[in-house]
Amino acid sequence: MKRRSFLTTSAAGIAGMSLASPMILGDSVVGANDKIVLALIGCGGRGMQTIVNCCKINENVEIKTVCDVNRTKLSDAVNTIDREFGKRPTSTEEMQTIFDDKDVTAVWVATPEHWHMPASIRACQAGKDVYVEKNLSVNIWESRKLVEAASKYKRVVQAGLQNRSASQGFSAREYIKSGKLGKIVTVKTYFMLGGGKFTEAPERPVPAWLDWDKWLGPAPYRPFSPSIVSERGRGGWQHYWDYSGGLLDDEASHTIDLTRMVLGDPPHPQSVYAWGGNHVYGGTSETPEFQSIVFDYGTFTLTADGGPAFKYMYKAPQSTRNNASKFPNWRNYSARVEIYGTEGLMYLGRHGGGWQVLGKDDKIVAEDGAVFPDNDHQKNFIECIRTRGKTNGDIEQCHYSSTLINMGNIACRVGNKQLLFDGKTETFANNDQANVLAKGTYRKGYEIPDNV
Ligand SMILES: NC(=O)c1ccc[n+]([C@@H]2O[C@H](COP(=O)([O-])OP(=O)(O)OC[C@H]3O[C@@H](n4cnc5c(N)ncnc54)[C@H](O)[C@@H]3O)[C@@H](O)[C@H]2O)c1
Repeated sequence: MKRRSFLTTSAAGIAGMSLASPMILGDSVVGANDKIVLALIGCGGRGMQTIVNCCKINENVEIKTVCDVNRTKLSDAVNTIDREFGKRPTSTEEMQTIFDDKDVTAVWVATPEHWHMPASIRACQAGKDVYVEKNLSVNIWESRKLVEAASKYKRVVQAGLQNRSASQGFSAREYIKSGKLGKIVTVKTYFMLGGGKFTEAPERPVPAWLDWDKWLGPAPYRPFSPSIVSERGRGGWQHYWDYSGGLLDDEASHTIDLTRMVLGDPPHPQSVYAWGGNHVYGGTSETPEFQSIVFDYGTFTLTADGGPAFKYMYKAPQSTRNNASKFPNWRNYSARVEIYGTEGLMYLGRHGGGWQVLGKDDKIVAEDGAVFPDNDHQKNFIECIRTRGKTNGDIEQCHYSSTLINMGNIACRVGNKQLLFDGKTETFANNDQANVLAKGTYRKGYEIPDNV
């Protein structure tokens, strides 16, 4: 079959933002050619890689300030940016400095998840545009509050769910909308990774390179353990409910969001059933080693299965990520989506995996390749800051996707149950404990107000 036999609409999808009036920010106006000044909150691997790349691929965008509570990463970030762009950014351990700085147009939030919403909401309140990493939130309520804040303060917010800018997402959505896949019967998503046992190391005194209290921020106080934060690496915070939603949050947030996008962004499901536990390695991770989740959308089901126990499954290799004419081997592809329609089965990948539709007699009847979408997503953010258009990673849709991750995790945390969900109020209809988790709690001084 000829490559690109299905014509992609990606270009229109990415660039099809309406042109609006220039941005009014305090006394200044950011026009098409004006400089956009960024500040980074959270100078770990992801934040540094994406903000530096964003400045390289866009005209007239620079980093003024970097912020981190890890002093080693903070000074490394200053040096890296100096090396990359020949200009040293200012640095701070207190994000409020950035919110107070009238020069800063937009903030890039790449902290662990428990800080995403408190930082992003405060940024909106301060009149900054926001790029915020996935998974958006550690509970359902707080990402709804960001939707409200973005709307109230008229901010451009891009969720770091970069597959929203992936060409294969736009073309797959068109293909499904055209009816060629038939009626959707069931959808299966996977996050089947390699990994191992997590065991928490004993408490230690807080190291000199870290402001532990600020790192914890809205989360309950607990003593420092080197298992949670590491000086130069990521550490193990994703194993703790207070800071993250585990592998479902880390990995499945991408595939689940991409799936919602290609299905035409269905609203909330009516229920979730989840099963998860540490039955594989028996480690001390609070977030489960393995999870199996079913969302009930009324006319079809969406499932998510995964964990760190699958050493024979792989993410897309670099050769596939950067080559739109190569597809992953779907059988051992750890991040695949399978969309079963009455007329065909669509395999869909992230990391630039593209999609292929399997019809009868083992025939591929349609396909579209893609490349890793980070560049498109970062360009879309900058373009929307200038045009005031709606980002591809629209915060309301990404809140819906983020809610699925929180729903799945909450159903596990209340004892592997089926929970009925009221999409209007975004609360559970049959479990009070689940509603406590859906709202979350915040340490004194770090609360998010009801009225943002
Ligand atoms: N979109 C993607 O494909 C993708 C890929 C990787 C990571 N991520 C997400 O990006 C985020 C960062 O991931 P990472 O791997 O860089 O993690 P990391 O732990 O290496 O980096 C997070 C940084 O935030 C800092 N931080 C914590 N509290 C802070 C505060 N109050 N003020 C300022 N800085 C603070 C930490 O000290 C750390 O340096 C996570 O949410 C992760 O899920 C997204």
